[in-house]
Amino acid sequence: MEFTEALQKRHSVRAFLPRPIDPQTLNDVLAQACLSPSWSNTHPYKIAVATGEVLEDLRKTLYARYIESAKLQRSGTLGKLKALITKSPGIPDGDFKPMLKYPKDLQKRRFECGLGLYATLGIDRKDIRAREAQMAENFRFFGAPAAVFVFVHGETGPYGPLDAGIYLQSLMLAATNAGLGSCAQGALGLYRTPLDKHFDIPPQYKLLCGVALGFEADLPVNRFQPEKITTQEMLLPLR
Ligand SMILES: Cc1cc2nc3c(=O)[nH]c(=O)nc-3n(C[C@H](O)[C@H](O)[C@H](O)COP(=O)(O)O)c2cc1C
Repeated sequence: MEFTEALQKRHSVRAFLPRPIDPQTLNDVLAQACLSPSWSNTHPYKIAVATGEVLEDLRKTLYARYIESAKLQRSGTLGKLKALITKSPGIPDGDFKPMLKYPKDLQKRRFECGLGLYATLGIDRKDIRAREAQMAENFRFFGAPAAVFVFVHGETGPYGPLDAGIYLQSLMLAATNAGLGSCAQGALGLYRTPLDKHFDIPPQYKLLCGVALGFEADLPVNRFQPEKITTQEMLLPLR
C-alpha cells in the first residue's frame, strides 16, 4: 500500500467482525510498529497483547466494571461514598486520571466529534443511556479479536507518552497496510487490575491506552469521518 493511501485509509473502527487475525499477520504488524523512532532509541513503552481466552476474560471483566462505573455516576453522593468504602469495582483504578473535561479551547472539537459519532449511530445527544451503551462497547473492544494495551515508563515526563504516541500511529498504519482496522482507545486506560491478573507488568510501567485490532464490519459507525484539522488552523502566525 502507498504511504499516502495508508494514511488516508486509517480511521477509527468501532465495529469489528468476529473473524480472528492470523497470528503471523499480527506478529508482522507488531514487528513493523517496532520501527518507530523514540527519544535516544529508548522505546520507553511495553505492550500487552490480548487474544483468545485472555481477551474474552478482559472483555467480560472490563465491560462489567464500566457498567458498574456508569451506575456509580448516576448514584448520589451517598452512593459514591458507599462505593468508595466498599471498594466498588466501578471505581477506576487506572494509572492516569481520565481527562473528563478538556481545556476550553479544545472542547469545541471534542464536542463536535462526540456529536458526529452519536449522529452517525442515530443516538440523540440527550439520550444518556444510549450514549452510555455506546461508551460501554469500548470495553468489549467493539467486538475486535485482538487488543493491544500500551504501557509507558512512568519516569519519562512527557517524552515517554510522546514516544508511545508515535508507536501507536505506526501500529495503526501497519494494521491498515495489513488490511486490519484499528481503534486507539483511551477508555482502556481506566482499569488496571484486570490486566495485572493476566500480564506480568513491571511496576514502573503505567497503562496509557489500548488499541482494538481486527477486520472492519461494514456498518455505518465505521463510516463516521470527523473533520480533520487543517495546517492553516494550527499554524501560528508570525509576529
Ligand atoms: C490516544 C487516543 C485515544 C482514543 N480513545 C478513544 C476511545 O476511548 N474510544 C473511541 O471510540 N475512540 C477513541 N479514539 C479515537 C478518536 O476519537 C479518533 O482518532 C478521532 O475522532 C479521529 O478519527 P479517526 O481516527 O477516524 O481519524 C482515540 C484516539 C486516540 C489517538
